[in-house]
Amino acid sequence: MASSPAHDRKLLRVLDGEAFDIPPIWIMRQAGRYLPEYRELRAKAASFMDFCYTPSMAAEATLQPIRRYGFDGAILFSDILVIPDALGQKVSFHEGEGPRLDPLTSIEDAKKRLSGDLDLERLQPVFETIERVRGGLPAETTFLGFCGAPWTVAGYMIAGKSTPELAPSRLLAYRDPAFLQFVIDQLVAASIKYLVKQFRSGVDAVQIFESFAGALTAEGIGRWSIEPIRRIIEGVRREVPGARIIVFGRGSGSGHIRYAAETGANAVGLDWSVDGDWAAKNVQTIKPVQGNLDPLAVVAGGEALDQGVDKVLKSFGGRPHIFNLGHGIVPETPPAHVERLVNRIRRV
Ligand code: CP3
Repeated sequence: MASSPAHDRKLLRVLDGEAFDIPPIWIMRQAGRYLPEYRELRAKAASFMDFCYTPSMAAEATLQPIRRYGFDGAILFSDILVIPDALGQKVSFHEGEGPRLDPLTSIEDAKKRLSGDLDLERLQPVFETIERVRGGLPAETTFLGFCGAPWTVAGYMIAGKSTPELAPSRLLAYRDPAFLQFVIDQLVAASIKYLVKQFRSGVDAVQIFESFAGALTAEGIGRWSIEPIRRIIEGVRREVPGARIIVFGRGSGSGHIRYAAETGANAVGLDWSVDGDWAAKNVQTIKPVQGNLDPLAVVAGGEALDQGVDKVLKSFGGRPHIFNLGHGIVPETPPAHVERLVNRIRRV
């Protein structure tokens, strides 16, 4: 394993609380359809899940944006839905439709169909991908693993597909909280096991994606998001002391403060709706922050992009900050605009 001490890796140093004049950069969904080399590679896989489970391909996809842009962080190419898949709820992706799962219908159904113990054997290709990437990364690049947060992943397991505001799970939280709690508890245990194995395979830090934090009420966010994430972080650190973890609670508004104060995360990702000056005062004073340029400013490019970048830098400058977008980069983004973004941040 080609490893270099953490003190060489800028992004890790920010997670430990250091501030830099020029922040480290990575971009959510940086390996993806906006890159022609990704589309070319993707065309060779029979399905998206096959792509995720083929270490040579997944490793290549992980490295593509690093080669092109020299980002400070590489993120493992995989998907949050490999967890339900490895728990026994088969996942498939259909072109233009997103993910499909056979939805869980009751607590009895969930008890019958979910294995109760994560099948690490099924996820072996992911760990092999991590080993390959680690060997191919520049020494100064931080390698990030990830998982979905239980509320977000449960949303797909219960609805069986993408739903804009997770209505099926939200209803379940009122009608049958024991069922939802059962699924969440399964995911807490599975996520701990999965992230521990990612660390042991070679990642430096991980991000927990709570993509649907914004669907929760102020009461619900504590039980269904903050508490499960806090348990995951505690469980991972029991096995990997000092494990560095970023939590991204998309759409959570003032809830970003709670992710910073209550989960034990090293840093908090901010979505694009968050005002930078507010977050600098209310979140960045608790933990390092990551974010939060609007992905559409990168599609627009030009002045809009430059002004967006400058605003983010101005808000978070002087305190620990990782530059990122406020959510994943979109397929329509011209790759040259990403280059412009990187150059502006690095002042070249
Ligand atoms: O960030 C990266 O570059 C690493 C890889 C990564 C992917 N998905 C690859 C992917 C990561 C970290 C994810 C996380 C993920 N997956 C999330 C959380 C982050 C977020 O975006 O909110 C969620 C909710 C998913 C579930 C998922 N995966 C959906 C809903 C879809 C279909 C929608 C779409 O964009 O097409 C995916 C597919 C997916 N995962 C793609 C990629 C590059 C596109 C599919 C393809 O290339 O064919």
